[in-house]
Amino acid sequence: MVTISLPGMPADFFEPISDHKTPPTYLYFDGTSWKPGESGKTVPVASPIDGSVVGNLPVVTPKEIDAVMAAATSSQPAWEATPLYKRVSVMHLAADWIRQFEEYLTNVMIREIGKSAGEAKSEIVRTADLIDYFADEAEALRGETIDSDNFPGYEKGKIAIVERVAHGVVLAIAPFNYPVNLSASKIAPALLMGNSVVVKPPTMGGISGLHLVRIFEKAGVPKGVITAVTGTGDVIGDYVVRHDAVSMVAFTGSSDTGLAIAGKAPMKPLLFECGGNNPVVVMPDADMGVTAHEIIKGGFAYSGQRCTGIKYVLTTKAIREQLVEMMLKLMPEMVKAGDPRSPDTKLVGPVISESAARHIEEVIEASVKNGATIVMGGKRTGAMIEPTILTGVLPTMPVIAKETFGPVVSFVDVNSFDEAVTIINNSSYGLQASVFTKDEGTGIVFAGKLHVGTVQINGSPQRGPDHFPFLGVKHSGTGVQGVRYSLEAMSRIRPIVLNKPQ
Ligand code: G3H
Repeated sequence: MVTISLPGMPADFFEPISDHKTPPTYLYFDGTSWKPGESGKTVPVASPIDGSVVGNLPVVTPKEIDAVMAAATSSQPAWEATPLYKRVSVMHLAADWIRQFEEYLTNVMIREIGKSAGEAKSEIVRTADLIDYFADEAEALRGETIDSDNFPGYEKGKIAIVERVAHGVVLAIAPFNYPVNLSASKIAPALLMGNSVVVKPPTMGGISGLHLVRIFEKAGVPKGVITAVTGTGDVIGDYVVRHDAVSMVAFTGSSDTGLAIAGKAPMKPLLFECGGNNPVVVMPDADMGVTAHEIIKGGFAYSGQRCTGIKYVLTTKAIREQLVEMMLKLMPEMVKAGDPRSPDTKLVGPVISESAARHIEEVIEASVKNGATIVMGGKRTGAMIEPTILTGVLPTMPVIAKETFGPVVSFVDVNSFDEAVTIINNSSYGLQASVFTKDEGTGIVFAGKLHVGTVQINGSPQRGPDHFPFLGVKHSGTGVQGVRYSLEAMSRIRPIVLNKPQ
């Protein structure tokens, strides 16, 4: 385990979180100490770059989960009672520590999940900025009072005092593709609103996630208020999600997992961001250069492993021909598949594991068997999938019937733009869609017909800037994220009605 010493920073900052062997076994956090886990079982985190074991994560037992939940439950009321300005200052300190460790965290993430240096660094910087913004926005939240006499039949006798209170214990489940940012986007608002947080990091990405938890701990989150349980979802997930102590679940991951979790947490508030499978519609008047650029960026960034990644393009055959030609011209400049550690690599590195790559290869092959054509790419080597463009794809083909989390962009020919609307609205996914047209009015009218969370006009789907609302409909999620929206989701209103003496 590398320890870091920067001015003003204790050399042993991350010391307690692993056993310092090679490869290290990381420890889970019960809210007070970092522990190896009593089961003695661990799960390896293998680097997508070369399959080497970056570290191991303990598989916690139900008894250990019970203890973590008890700590989270008992510590929460005092944390909620802590003045907001103090919780805010803890968040700003956490953001500062993240900045101090930018290079270190970036390197952990590159190796652990195969993110390119630029993308990993940008995730770290974005996370620090996000936490600061959360803290500032939490201070700006206001309650309200409501008078009674503006409802017919009521006099001035009542007043509702509406304030925001915590849910209690928030379970935060983050995905592998943004193990720091999509953990912090749950942890920070939950803590600011007075909840305690049990973090379930992803397995791939878990090491980055544990570093983040350590930063929050060191920034001053009191004992028990933040904890981290590790182990694969299929082994510990059920027990954690069903736990009575959990008051709310915040989750980012696949739609299938989201649906399964929702069924196990009945009557609890859920904040879910699930699969995207995002479509693009290209109108005849679109600027082909801008459109091709955005499709490449949106389709291939982080090897297509973003829930906001572009998955398919709906347009007429004539426009598709122009667009594909333009994309093929731009691809060599914009995309260079390779080792994410190399500065020459652009957008595409290995996907998260060789088994994920095999799955992507299978869906490409199955789609080709059903009539799709490979315009470029299509081959796999280990965990690397070549940047792939397919044409002649139908909505029923496996490559887009379900979200393919890899560097694959599919073209679906339509005869009319009403047909595009039908295809998008018939999909079980509904995160984002993009419309490309020079006529913004047409874009806005068209956007209004689409049953998705957000429509981008002349830009690729994306979550940021992070204070914008971010939501999915249908199987793409529930609840709204984005700075203020997340703070609201991580709390509930508590009205107290004062009946005034008449
Ligand atoms: O993968 C899911 C993320 O929320 C996508 O975020 O649009 O910033 O890449 P992004």
